[in-house]
Amino acid sequence: MPFEWRILLLGLAAVVVMFLILVDVSEVEEEMVKTRLKAVPSPVPGSRADSISAFSSPPFSRNSFTSPASGWIFNRTLSSIIRKKVLRFLDAERDISILKSTFKPGDIIHYVFDRQSTTNISENLYRLLPTVSPMKNQHYERCAIVGNSGILLNSSCGPEIDSHDFVIRCNLAPVEEYAEDVGLRSSLVTMNPSVVQRAFQDLSSKEWRQRFVRRLQALSGSVLWIPAFMAKSGEDRVEWAVHLILSHTVSVHAAFPSLRLLHAVRGYWLTNNIQIKRPTTGLLMYTMATRFCEEIHLYGFWPFPRDSEGKPVKYHYYDTLKYQYTSSSSPHTMPLEFRTLSTLHRQGALRLHTETCRLPT
Ligand SMILES: *[C@@H]1O[C@H](CO)[C@@H](O)[C@H](O)[C@H]1NC(C)=O
Ligand SMILES: *[C@@H]1O[C@H](CO)[C@@H](O)[C@H](O)[C@H]1NC(C)=O
Ligand SMILES: *[C@@H]1O[C@H](CO)[C@@H](O)[C@H](O)[C@H]1NC(C)=O
Repeated sequence: MPFEWRILLLGLAAVVVMFLILVDVSEVEEEMVKTRLKAVPSPVPGSRADSISAFSSPPFSRNSFTSPASGWIFNRTLSSIIRKKVLRFLDAERDISILKSTFKPGDIIHYVFDRQSTTNISENLYRLLPTVSPMKNQHYERCAIVGNSGILLNSSCGPEIDSHDFVIRCNLAPVEEYAEDVGLRSSLVTMNPSVVQRAFQDLSSKEWRQRFVRRLQALSGSVLWIPAFMAKSGEDRVEWAVHLILSHTVSVHAAFPSLRLLHAVRGYWLTNNIQIKRPTTGLLMYTMATRFCEEIHLYGFWPFPRDSEGKPVKYHYYDTLKYQYTSSSSPHTMPLEFRTLSTLHRQGALRLHTETCRLPT
């Protein structure tokens, strides 16, 4: 065979091999999203008490966190070890938002979940992009991350939550009507595009648009964190929300997570042997908060239909939505996340509040 031919064949073979490797990599990615969780190792090797066979019931009594015998002590050393490890995967200061300098209007973005779908950065969205990270040089001693579980109802935790230096809330959850149990302050609030549909009737009437604007106006000075580039289905809702923010006096600091954030967060937990399908907003927030918070307190995290006394617990404290915590078709792996956070609680890295709060006397 002539020399040139051999070179050509070799080249072709190399291309084929590269192609196969790429296909394999993307299949593994897909797998990671789709695979049902099988045996999941507990975060701390050797602690058998952490493996729970049935997800349907709470793993421990609701009061176990506060009983004097298990008095929680913050472990600053561990918290700073975790911060450094997370930093190898993501930097919340940077990944919390894409910036004006990264894109210009008309630039094409591939959605994180459906990579073949794209969107263009609109003029309006571009106007809302921050020029510097809203978390730049920000550090707080005590932060609260408020999940939306019905476990918060009748908890009287409102004042305690509000006493933190930085309060993170998820999915534009209502606060005023529930202030006693959930508090009022918000330093950062997340808003999935689907909220616009679910909680504000897709802004289909003037009244719903006003309600939406009023909710945003109540967040004056806070960061409004919009995962705008996850799925194409949110495209219109993002644009409507952006339009309403720009056309009313809404003084929020909009932030749009970087396109790599979700994979980076999953990567971090994977290296800890925690195979999260799609991290919940709560876990995303915890992972990011390690960057700018010392003590992190979690409230309203409870992925079980009943409390420790067997009483029903609503999925959200503010609506009637139902959720299959353990269904393999659910996008999230909440019970696994919860066990992971419980372990970190026991180690003193964070504090998980699932009990009622004592009112200040
Ligand atoms: C805090 O965490 C570090 C690192 O895991 C550990 O070595 C240390 O013993 C812990 N301290 C306490 C008081 O538990
Ligand atoms: C998106 O951007 C591309 C390239 O800049 C442009 O050709 C296309 O017309 C844009 N589409 C929309 C809907 O703006
Ligand atoms: C909260 O307390 C009120 C009054 O005691 C009671 O009617 C209600 O059922 C309680 N809600 C939950 C979710 O426990």
